[in-house]
Amino acid sequence: MNFIALESKQKLRGGFYTEQTIASFLVKWVRTSRPKSILEPSCGDGAFLQAIEEQHFEFLKQVCICELDAEEAEKAKRRTRLPIRFLAGDFLRWYLQCIQNEEGFDAVVGNPPFIRYQYLPEEQQLLAEKIFSLLNLRFTKHTNAWVPFIIASVKLLKPGGRIAMVIPSEIFHIPHAQSLRHYLADQCSRILLIDPKELWFTDTLQGTVLLMAEKKPKRSAKGKGVSVVSNATRRTLDRDPEALFQEAKYTNGETIKGKWMQIFLTSRERRLLADCRDRQEVKLFSDVASVDVGIVTGANKFFLVPDSTIEEFQLQQWAHPMFGRSGHVRGLVYSRKDHRSNKKSGLPANFLWFREAGLKKVPVNIKKYLSLGLSEKLHLRFKCRTRNGWY
Ligand SMILES: C[S@@+](CC[C@H](N)C(=O)[O-])C[C@H]1O[C@@H](n2cnc3c(N)ncnc32)[C@H](O)[C@@H]1O
Repeated sequence: MNFIALESKQKLRGGFYTEQTIASFLVKWVRTSRPKSILEPSCGDGAFLQAIEEQHFEFLKQVCICELDAEEAEKAKRRTRLPIRFLAGDFLRWYLQCIQNEEGFDAVVGNPPFIRYQYLPEEQQLLAEKIFSLLNLRFTKHTNAWVPFIIASVKLLKPGGRIAMVIPSEIFHIPHAQSLRHYLADQCSRILLIDPKELWFTDTLQGTVLLMAEKKPKRSAKGKGVSVVSNATRRTLDRDPEALFQEAKYTNGETIKGKWMQIFLTSRERRLLADCRDRQEVKLFSDVASVDVGIVTGANKFFLVPDSTIEEFQLQQWAHPMFGRSGHVRGLVYSRKDHRSNKKSGLPANFLWFREAGLKKVPVNIKKYLSLGLSEKLHLRFKCRTRNGWY
């Protein structure tokens, strides 16, 4: 469980900025279409503006920007000599007020705020919901700020226009982005996602991908679908983005109707999957097992321990069978025999759960063990300190 009161100001406004190499790569791709007007809907301190300026868009007439944080917006304006027009603080509000009269943009670039719906102020929650309803898209309260941002940005693109943005990698599968996946596939002729092998935004621990999509030239035109460059590395950013976009093999139809996970499969693998689906003898995983989330201990070494620790501190009463990590499970089935073997090898095969010990009268042996945790300052760790009783 996360609490809004414990989140940083930076996180609550989604203020994690794009590094220059990534902004330059996306801007380079947009440049190929020679846009006269560009929108940066949440410009932060102006990483994308700098990239545009550095790449000399001689055909550019105007760059329109929004940014909720006035101080950051000022920094962005000071950072560039581009022909800037500051539209508004809140992009979602501006969009809803101006969409009727807006003639649209040739390109949209940026990195929208990633903020859970529950953390948004009520006014912004309502704005987000309205954006879905105006376009007849299904809305859920599980959404995140980046979703209405992308929907509004695509809507604001002129026919044939390009959108190039950093977005969360959950675009591929998260249920609340289904409306967006549907909308992108419906509105765009080609959608390319650059999916990095490693985290590119290490501060946030948020997996991100680069979205490069071109709006259909005509509403009635048929889209080619979605493609992904998987396992991208920093060296991918040295490649020509336009060549990547043109050479990609796009997939359409059933494969991209729901989640976009099947794009990662080869066509042979997809055929095999379809074949399996048609066979009665092939069961769904959920027919034979149930799935549940794992535990978050906040300090695995302390709460997941080998038998020797249990014996040393006499903690048998609070030890529950567990495997330390997936690497300790060899194969699909984890049996009692495997567990015994893990215990014998000295692997952490016990999960310590002191719930039964109560929080008031703590037995001496537990106290002794917990004092070890205190000396390691485990009680100050985020996941531990947000519990009622850190252990
Ligand atoms: C992930 S940062 C990206 C900033 C910049 N585009 C970049 O790529 O470095 C998202 C930015 O969105 C801004 N923001 C949050 N909510 C907004 C809103 N409703 N309208 C406009 N900007 C917003 C935040 O203040 C933050 O600067």
